[in-house]
Amino acid sequence: MPDRAAIVTGASSGIGLAVARMLGEEGHALTVAARRPDKLVAAAQELRDAGFEVEEVAGNMADEETIKRVVAGHEERFGRLDVLVNNAGVGVGAAAGDHETKRIDLQLAVNLRAIVLFYREALPLLRTAGGEHRNALVVNTSSISGKSGQPWLSVYSATKAGVVGYTQAMNKELNGDGIKSVALCPGFVETPMTEFVREHVPAEDMIRVEDIAEAVRFVLRTSPNCVIPEIVFQRPGEAL
Ligand SMILES: NC(=O)c1ccc[n+]([C@@H]2O[C@H](COP(=O)([O-])OP(=O)(O)OC[C@H]3O[C@@H](n4cnc5c(N)ncnc54)[C@H](OP(=O)(O)O)[C@@H]3O)[C@@H](O)[C@H]2O)c1
Repeated sequence: MPDRAAIVTGASSGIGLAVARMLGEEGHALTVAARRPDKLVAAAQELRDAGFEVEEVAGNMADEETIKRVVAGHEERFGRLDVLVNNAGVGVGAAAGDHETKRIDLQLAVNLRAIVLFYREALPLLRTAGGEHRNALVVNTSSISGKSGQPWLSVYSATKAGVVGYTQAMNKELNGDGIKSVALCPGFVETPMTEFVREHVPAEDMIRVEDIAEAVRFVLRTSPNCVIPEIVFQRPGEAL
């Protein structure tokens, strides 16, 4: 069994891949999960080439069975879970009068419901790690739009505000078990998700995925006495 192990969802690109790489550097064996198999296989290989032990599970995080499969597969391969990163997410813009029900449901399922289900499925493993070193960690990727709702991204904003609320509740419920949770709330980060906005916000003006990964590394290294419930990442001039 490895000394430390982590699950990272949405790890096939962007923030999730950068956080997975950082966790590998910090000595974690990794289960990486995301939707499209080809993209995930390539990302997993990139992590293996960097010298990390990696298991990959492709699937839709809107699907409860996929989530069960990710956690069960991780337990079978690595036998422990110290860090859970709930990062897979999807945003669909629409005006208030135009929301398609299936897109509302997709955003709720991937961005919020999956996080609730991942905690439920992973709790026995997280409690064991928390009992051992009092520093099990759950990282939940919210957004700056979870702190201040954005027009035309209203459903996405609501799901991300839900992530902040759920993270707060989990700290109150699980800190006693040695499990800490943090919500990440970034503005525009340079990833495939923000390609649609490059005309207005150039890539060089965006937050870098390495900035997010370094913040998670900092949280990871804090003592069991220190809970950091959320981190807001703003670009210069992008006030809440
Ligand atoms: N980029 C930003 O400006 C920004 C700002 C605030 C918050 N965020 C949040 O950061 C997280 C990561 O996004 P990113 O910016 O790094 O974008 P990204 O590079 O597009 O990564 C999104 C990841 O989530 C996976 N994913 C999406 N839908 C999924 C589903 N239904 N089932 C399983 N996996 C799914 C993607 O896999 P596939 O590619 O195979 O779908 C990919 O691995 C998201 O939660 C996003 O809401 C991003």
